[in-house]
Amino acid sequence: MTNSRFVSYSLLLTVFFGVYFFSTISTAYAASNSVHLDSFPMKTLNNKASLQNGAKLFMNYCIGCHGISQVRYGKLQDLGLSKNQIKDNLIFNEKLTMASSILTSMSQDSKVWFGKRPPDLSLTAKSRSSSDGSGADWIYTYLRSFYKDPTQATGWNNTVYPGVNMPHVLWDMQGIRNAVYSEKDDGGTKKLIIDRFVFVTPGTLSSSEYDDNIADLTAFLVWTAEPEGQFRKRLGVWVILFLSLFAFMAWRLNAAYWKDIK
Ligand code: HEC
Repeated sequence: MTNSRFVSYSLLLTVFFGVYFFSTISTAYAASNSVHLDSFPMKTLNNKASLQNGAKLFMNYCIGCHGISQVRYGKLQDLGLSKNQIKDNLIFNEKLTMASSILTSMSQDSKVWFGKRPPDLSLTAKSRSSSDGSGADWIYTYLRSFYKDPTQATGWNNTVYPGVNMPHVLWDMQGIRNAVYSEKDDGGTKKLIIDRFVFVTPGTLSSSEYDDNIADLTAFLVWTAEPEGQFRKRLGVWVILFLSLFAFMAWRLNAAYWKDIK
C-alpha cells in the first residue's frame, strides 16, 4: 500500500468512527430524559378491518376535539369502505360531502376550556417520532398511559405526556387507574415517583382488548399521516426487483459486447 493511500484510508476510518461515536453519544443524551415507549404492533397497518375499526373509533371519540384536515371523507374508501358506509356511519353532519376535509366539530372557544387547543392529528404519527421510538409507538403508548390525577385541571395525567391537557376520553373502555407513588432518594432530596397503577373502576374491555383497539386507532393515525405509505412500500419492492433484473441484463450485455475484444 502506498503512503498516500494509507493516509486516505486512515482518514476515512477516523471520520467513520468519529460520526459513529458522536451519534451514539447524542442518542444516549437524548434518551436520558425520555420515557419508555411500547412498540406499536405494525401488523395492523396492512389490515383493512383494523384500519376501519380505527376510523370508527376516531369518528366516535376524537373528532369532537381533533380534526385530520389532510384527509377527505372520500379518501376513506381506500380503507375498503363504500360511499354509503361512509355517509351512513362516519359523516355526522348533513352539510359535509365526500370532498370535505375531516375537520373537528369543536367550536373555536374550546381553547379556553382546556388551556390548549386540541391539535390537528393528520401528521402526529410523523411529528412525534424521536430517538425513543416512532410516532406510532408514541401514540400507541400515550393512549394507554392515562391515570387519575386530582392536581390536574382535567382530572387526568399521562406518563408519556406529563401535565397533558387532554382528558382520558376512552376511560370507559380502559377503566380508571390511580397511581401509587413511592419515595426515591435523588441525590439527597426525596422525590415521589410512580411505582405502579391500580384500577379503581374496571373498564368495559379487558386489557388486551383495549390494547388491540388502541393499535387499530394508532394504525388509522399512521394511515392519515401518509395514506399512500403502504403502496409506496409495495412499489419499492417492485422497483428493487426491476433494478436487480436490469443490473443482471446490463452485466450480461457488457460481457457479450467485450467478448471478442478482450
Ligand atoms: C375533549 C377534547 C378531546 C378529545 C375528545 C380528544 N382529545 Fe386528544 N387532545 C386534546 C387536547 C386539548 C390536546 C392537547 C394537549 C396538550 O398539548 O396539553 C390533545 C392532544 C392529543 C394528542 C397529542 C398531540 C401532540 O402531538 O401533542 C394526541 C395523539 C391525541 N390528543 C389523540 C387523541 C385521540 C386518538 C382521541 C380520540 C380517542 C382524542 N385525542 C380525543 C383534547 C381532546
